[in-house]
Amino acid sequence: MKGVSGLKVGIVGAGHVGLPTAGALAKLGHHVTVTDTDAPRIEALGRAEIPFFEPGLQELIAEGIASGRLSFTTDPAPVARESAAVFICVGTPPRATGEANLVAVEKSALAVAQHAVDSLIVVEKSTVPTGTSDRLAKALARSNPRASFELVSNPEFLREGHAVEDSLHPARVLVGSDSPDALKVMRELYQPIIDGGAAYVETDQRTAELAKHACNAYLALKISFANALARICELSDADVVSVTNVMGMDPRIGPGHLHAGLGYGGSCFPKDLAAFERLVERLGYNFPLLGEIKRINDEAVTSVFSKIEEVLWNLEEKRVVLLGLSFKPGTDDVRFAPALALARLLVDAGAEVVGYDPVANELAASEVPGLKTAESVHEALDGAHCAVLCTEWDEFRTLDMNSARSAMAFPIMIDGRNLYESSDMADAGFTYVPVGRRSVSPVIEDRLLADSL
Ligand code: UGA
Repeated sequence: MKGVSGLKVGIVGAGHVGLPTAGALAKLGHHVTVTDTDAPRIEALGRAEIPFFEPGLQELIAEGIASGRLSFTTDPAPVARESAAVFICVGTPPRATGEANLVAVEKSALAVAQHAVDSLIVVEKSTVPTGTSDRLAKALARSNPRASFELVSNPEFLREGHAVEDSLHPARVLVGSDSPDALKVMRELYQPIIDGGAAYVETDQRTAELAKHACNAYLALKISFANALARICELSDADVVSVTNVMGMDPRIGPGHLHAGLGYGGSCFPKDLAAFERLVERLGYNFPLLGEIKRINDEAVTSVFSKIEEVLWNLEEKRVVLLGLSFKPGTDDVRFAPALALARLLVDAGAEVVGYDPVANELAASEVPGLKTAESVHEALDGAHCAVLCTEWDEFRTLDMNSARSAMAFPIMIDGRNLYESSDMADAGFTYVPVGRRSVSPVIEDRLLADSL
């Protein structure tokens, strides 16, 4: 990618958004300083040690450090004094009410702003309710009257597990600001990405903030729509994979985020949907559809739980194995992971619950008391009465079903992501229960056959 002469940029928050953004901006030729209050994390990042699993990120950060354009500090003062723009990339976790907790956004922006000397562009990358940049502008102006602040909303659309690719080659870049000067600097910052073919959209800051919530709510809606269809397919003996395939072929609908299964999790959809719901309530608009998206998503987990109960009957003293614990493949993030919601239900029902994930075992076990973890898929499956595919890691795609069947006490596979083909599973001798598709049960059919003879 062609570099530019380079602007000085600050990144506040060394997390899932801040680090890929920092690495990408450094690769584009900018001079990037990342600041975070977590001293051990900053120290480790200086040695290119990444605090979470994200493919390609270690290499990108190491490359940035080696180029001399990427550095890390706990001190926000030089970042504020030397940067043309400072990106706020801190978490906006949900409050108990579902509202976004914006304390970290306010605190971290103020911590930088107090050191600003003349003018500073403050860029919100964290997902926030519309109107936040206006509030932030007032808070910053009050906190440091010596400087002037221009606010920009530049929502992040990267996906965990693809964060590096999405940061370097985004499909679109959205930049919202009421300040023409700030828009000019942002365009300069993103010029190599624009030259690379990304769509570049400029709006006011409130519109950009709202667009981010709209995108995530709509993607979650598509997933829940597919999951509701899965329930209807189960009731009508139709096949949800074929139904959503047909839907996805219509360019007006598109194929993405239409896979039925255990539903969505992660640090974005659940919290952003709740925050959007609270926001529209506060604005006085009645939008019950948003609540339905969550209800259907919760049902995706309880429906898989019912399938497990259906095949195993009593769960006490049954070993149920969860294949995959992270909220999606390619990450060790277990926040709001459907696998963990399922694990809690199973533990409460008295099952022995054993999880295996290529990278998320430790985090998952620390989240769910009673969840055991195994070091390998074969250790997990040993003596299992049922396996539940929760996260579609490649390792599970290529699982040798014959050896899996031999290891298990009962050859039963509940496919929470519709990863496998019914015919393959039947050939391997499994009772196979996908989502929104017909189950196959060679074991039971054989028994029925034997009974009828
Ligand atoms: C999501 C959005 O896709 C990004 O555009 C956005 O930037 C990000 O949130 C954010 O706001 O930061 P992410 O949460 O990383 O990204 O993951 P997705 O790939 O969208 O998957 C979210 C969840 O939905 C996962 O649990 C996944 O298993 C589930 N999913 C996804 C389905 O159940 N069905 C699908 O068809 C697609």
